[in-house]
Amino acid sequence: MSGLRGNIGLLAVLAGVALGAVPADAAEDSATAITLETGKSGAKIERDIFGQFAEHLGSGIYGGIWVGKDSPIANVRGIRSDVVAALKAIKVPVVRWPGGCFADEYHWRNGIGPAAKRPATLNGNWGGVIEPNSFGSHEYFDFLDQIGAEAYLSVNVGSGSPQEAADWLEYLTSNSPTTLAKQRAANGHPAPYRIKYLGLGNENWGCGGSMSPEHYVEEMKLFSHYARNLDPAQGAAMQRVAVGWGDKASDYTEAVMKAWPGEHWAWSVEGLSIHNYTVGGKWPPHLPGSGFGEDDYALLLKETLGMDSLISQEAAIMDRYDPAKKVGLMVDEWGAWLAPAPGSNPHFLVQENSLRDAILASLNLNIFMRHADRVRQTNIAQMVNVLQSMVMTDGPKMVLTPTYHVYKLYVPFQDATLVPVSFEAGHYRDLPRIDAVAARDTQGKLWLAVTNIDPNEAGHLTLSLAGTAAQGASGQVLTAPKVDSINSFGAPHVVEPKPIEASAKDGKFELMLPPKSVAVLEVR
Ligand code: AHR
Repeated sequence: MSGLRGNIGLLAVLAGVALGAVPADAAEDSATAITLETGKSGAKIERDIFGQFAEHLGSGIYGGIWVGKDSPIANVRGIRSDVVAALKAIKVPVVRWPGGCFADEYHWRNGIGPAAKRPATLNGNWGGVIEPNSFGSHEYFDFLDQIGAEAYLSVNVGSGSPQEAADWLEYLTSNSPTTLAKQRAANGHPAPYRIKYLGLGNENWGCGGSMSPEHYVEEMKLFSHYARNLDPAQGAAMQRVAVGWGDKASDYTEAVMKAWPGEHWAWSVEGLSIHNYTVGGKWPPHLPGSGFGEDDYALLLKETLGMDSLISQEAAIMDRYDPAKKVGLMVDEWGAWLAPAPGSNPHFLVQENSLRDAILASLNLNIFMRHADRVRQTNIAQMVNVLQSMVMTDGPKMVLTPTYHVYKLYVPFQDATLVPVSFEAGHYRDLPRIDAVAARDTQGKLWLAVTNIDPNEAGHLTLSLAGTAAQGASGQVLTAPKVDSINSFGAPHVVEPKPIEASAKDGKFELMLPPKSVAVLEVR
């Protein structure tokens, strides 16, 4: 590899990022050549891969999204405006709601009609707190409209019935003058709502009813048939998502996919979901969200890289029954699940979100994109205040998490087309040190996402484009003083992206990627 000191004029300018601590020799030793195969293209990266999940859990909805119309916190029809603005900026494509485990105990009729008349129920899964039902179907779709996202509605398979789900779909989507459609109109929305995805249950091997895979498949067929989208404008476009994975490795995936070749007019699914949390090796989650050392950092990243083999394993089962890849794999719950934040209610799943979690998110998003031929949607858990969230709120205050910034950096990858990348990842302990994904967006621009997981050494990258001369690259890089740096309400800007730029010489350019960082660049 060419000498770093000899090519100092070619080095990336990392505005605002301190490189002084990196010995030149160390960087030289770890140089990585990355080649973008710009003449080739891979699968389309569905924008729904960057989707979110919002459950009635802790302050994921109440306080985090819904503050009510009379709140002193700025809101539009009860939905807080600061959170809406933040989520619009990351172009959230789709939001899964109302759960999670909550979905299999949710009865939609409790959440429609005049607020004062809605019943107070108990949220048995998450602390037994009162569920006021103030945020129901109309509020969910209003929220989606405000942030510009599509709906992923999970129907109640565990404690509900196919009839209840069918009625909900009729209420939401019928444009014929049925009693339920008229009720929707009387409640303020004459036009049918648009539902892109319909989840047929949630973890039905556990909180969703402890069903055997075979029993679930029979139930799923009923829900898939009767919960019809009645809006001709949406027609057959709504994708029904069955529950995959299972409590015994892949038994649900196997059962659903084994049944799928027999699908016909009276039942089918277009997607299969799996859940995979990164928990730090054992249950219950015990790793702290901050104040951890390098061993915990490496442990969690090593575990999260297992997402790749899990997807390969599930995709291999799907390939056996669906070689044409008609059924999409939806990773509709994933992320770091850590110990509760100090002083928080353990049932509310509040955790601190550090630079490590941002790096963890980038590695998972890269895995999803590389599997874009099968992975069509993912939903990080969860969007606001719960687990690995995008934003956290405390009364009127809101802070953007490090993970939020990764989602913002990755916006150009929404609906882009993969461009193959070749590189030697190198090593950090027993982990690959560098990760990279490239894609061409719908405007024809070329984008590169690179992650350096090494917390101690900068990554010296030499980038070239196969068959053509690179002219340069510019973008943003996310890093922070420590792997456990967090953004807090008192110090909200500790982990934030900074500009990064590189100019080319002889058709190549060099980039110095700081230790423990994620960068996204437009390559010219
Ligand atoms: O995201 C929290 C919970 O994790 C969900 O409710 C459930 O589906 C999963 O076990």
